[in-house]
Amino acid sequence: MKKILILTDYRNSFRREEKSYYSLSLNKMREVFIKNSYEVEVLSYIDIINLGLENIENQNIVYTSSADDNYKKYIDDIVFYLKDKNKIFPKYELLKCQENKGFQELYKLKQGIKSLKYYYLCNLKDLNKVENKLTYPIIMKKINGAGSSQVFKINSKNELIDKIKKNIKTQEYIKKYLKKKISEIIIKLKLDRKNLKKYQNYVLEEINMEPFVLQEFVPDLESDWKILVFGKKYYALNRRVREGDFRASGSGKLFFIEPPESVLNYAEKIYKKLDTPIASLDICINKNNECNLIEFQSLHFGPYTIMKSNYYYEKINSNWKQIFKKSNLSEEYANAMVEYINDKK
Ligand SMILES: Nc1ncnc2c1ncn2[C@@H]1O[C@H](COP(=O)(O)OP(=O)(O)O)[C@@H](O)[C@H]1O
Ligand SMILES: [Mg+2]
Repeated sequence: MKKILILTDYRNSFRREEKSYYSLSLNKMREVFIKNSYEVEVLSYIDIINLGLENIENQNIVYTSSADDNYKKYIDDIVFYLKDKNKIFPKYELLKCQENKGFQELYKLKQGIKSLKYYYLCNLKDLNKVENKLTYPIIMKKINGAGSSQVFKINSKNELIDKIKKNIKTQEYIKKYLKKKISEIIIKLKLDRKNLKKYQNYVLEEINMEPFVLQEFVPDLESDWKILVFGKKYYALNRRVREGDFRASGSGKLFFIEPPESVLNYAEKIYKKLDTPIASLDICINKNNECNLIEFQSLHFGPYTIMKSNYYYEKINSNWKQIFKKSNLSEEYANAMVEYINDKK
């Protein structure tokens, strides 16, 4: 019999529901897998560490992620190990894309998804090498963050430098540097020549060191589209920008209205290229009706759009049909996994 291993976290949760601290229903997921002739085993990450990772082989694995950076590092190590001898859903690169807008750009590149022009940087020194190619306004994004909190519109070179200095993490280096300098002064005062050598010639690293993305700005947007894709089912939410702002995410101005067909077609194209069972796509459509992908996730994204929608869209005989039916998140999650796993065979 075909088998699926569901990997849960330290609370035996599979995230995430509408609130990130709630789990999907494992019973519901199990039900769907069994209905599709899969035998199901549910284990947590610590369970499989106890079993010995080397004993987990030739399995179909559906795994949870986490919003906690440290726990996510732990998950990353385990999933990275498991991926060689098992089939993991979604694939490892998509775990790396979660909360990492920099890696998202690299993954888009890898999958042949052309979108807005971008630069992926990590400090002010690097900026010197690309600055002459930039046009303003430009969007600056820290690689993680949600609800637009780490997304800024930058109007000039000076503003960009200022933003990097103020918003890009000041590394521990500055503390280390000051400590060394103080030690050096004390040692000098004590004329302790032997120890002085240890502290001389200390070179300070870049102070503002944290990955960030510069992305081409799409002007005059009044809203963007959150499109969730679960297998063949597409859920659409229109999000209007805040008053006097260019940002939609986190505005709370949410509307279940009909998306232009071009948005659904674009979402379908992107979904296929991402090679994932489920996706959350932030899509904008400019004045010339061209769509662009602002951001995407395949794990641990907010499921509001699927949970609150009274319908979904499905392409039937090349036409988008609106199908009025409430969806159950856990059920559709498992359905999308089954569809994807069966397709891959
Ligand atoms: N390149 C861009 N051009 C214009 N607006 C953008 C661009 N990138 C993001 N935005 C706006 O900022 C919002 C937040 O950006 P996003 O990258 O999705 O970050 P978050 O993770 O905070 O949702 C988007 O919903 C969109 O309204
Ligand atoms: Mg977003």
